[in-house]
Amino acid sequence: MANKVRMGMVGGGSGALIGAVHRLAAEMTGDIELVAGAFSSNPDASKQFGIELGLDASRAYGNYEEMIDAEATLPEDQRMQCVSIVTPNNSHADISCRALKKGMHVICDKPLAGNLEDALRVAAVVEETGLLFGITHTYTGYPLIIEARERVRAGELGDIRRVVVIYLQDWLSQAADTKGSKQATWRTDASVGGESGAFADIGTHAFNLVEFITGQQMTEVAAELKTVVEDRDIDDDGAAMFRLQNGAAGLLAASQVCTGAVNGLRIEIYGDKGSLHWSHGDPNTLTIGRRGDPDQVISPGNNIAYLSDAARSRCRTPGGHPEGFIEAFSNLYVDFAAAVRAFPEPTDNICATVEDGVRAMRFVRATITSTNNGSQWTSI
Ligand SMILES: NC(=O)c1ccc[n+]([C@@H]2O[C@H](COP(=O)([O-])OP(=O)(O)OC[C@H]3O[C@@H](n4cnc5c(N)ncnc54)[C@H](O)[C@@H]3O)[C@@H](O)[C@H]2O)c1
Repeated sequence: MANKVRMGMVGGGSGALIGAVHRLAAEMTGDIELVAGAFSSNPDASKQFGIELGLDASRAYGNYEEMIDAEATLPEDQRMQCVSIVTPNNSHADISCRALKKGMHVICDKPLAGNLEDALRVAAVVEETGLLFGITHTYTGYPLIIEARERVRAGELGDIRRVVVIYLQDWLSQAADTKGSKQATWRTDASVGGESGAFADIGTHAFNLVEFITGQQMTEVAAELKTVVEDRDIDDDGAAMFRLQNGAAGLLAASQVCTGAVNGLRIEIYGDKGSLHWSHGDPNTLTIGRRGDPDQVISPGNNIAYLSDAARSRCRTPGGHPEGFIEAFSNLYVDFAAAVRAFPEPTDNICATVEDGVRAMRFVRATITSTNNGSQWTSI
């Protein structure tokens, strides 16, 4: 235990959605120990929850300011080396900046911040401190998403022509959905969620996936964001046409009001030699289409020598045993812990970077601007 990477957590208290997944994912690396936390905006609840998790009472803090400041005064071989941020979006920037300025690396859930200005503020502190900053865009942790990236890099699809990425949910499809669910309430409230709803929450995942797999930047969008359910001040639905650096065309839809769509994320990438198809409902399968040939279905079994090193090394379960969301999350933590250990030497890290996070917030801002200008094409 003594020489594991020492991590603190902000958010993820009792009843929170994603904090427990982060803790499990970090634990599954075998290389990270949770040593401190400020889990709730209620100081008593925060301390109590930390004690319930088994933390030393002196390191179950009442708030994140106290935690970061106190940890920074501990001997170097005891203080937390990094902090995991799993609070609502608008708080990410202040927590990140405080931790970085006290010498702590940060792994933060998406989106990087509630708005572009806050995202740029974090990027400036990362630049100033030179510390590590990882963003958990979960899908980049799936072995077959990494395989898709490797195959695009190897030129298997040829020149990319079109990308289609769709992320549809229905859990915010009724006005009543926000009653009694704190996750739903803050995501539909700009003062906590930030300048965008669905596009920041899941549109940024779709955006990141496009740039991660294609290796190209999205350069412009023509978007229509909508607020379908009344009494919300930010989008809960939307779609955008986009262009990539090489001129390839794309379509991105992100919605949380598509009745019957539980959590449907899929991406299709078409080049002049072939195409790639991946769906979150079946994350252990990647299909390659070529004109005139039967589809090639890649589904890791016992012999996975045909996978790229980058994907094979991230497969965790024995052949044929499905792996998914938590393993993908854990793959991000494996790379982040390795980066902390190797720091300041660079490592091969599949976590999204602070620059990726800023780009995602530029994308969100461009879709808002485009929407306000009659869906005009807008640079990212
Ligand atoms: N990568 C993914 O797939 C994924 C999935 C879900 C959520 N998320 C992201 O994770 C973050 C959290 O989302 P969630 O759904 O778990 O939210 P949540 O409302 O379930 O949990 C947020 C937690 O943060 C705590 N909190 C709020 N302010 C705090 C503060 N100042 N100090 C300490 N704790 C504080 C709350 O008490 C709560 O325990 C969001 O940014 C969201 O976008 C990412």
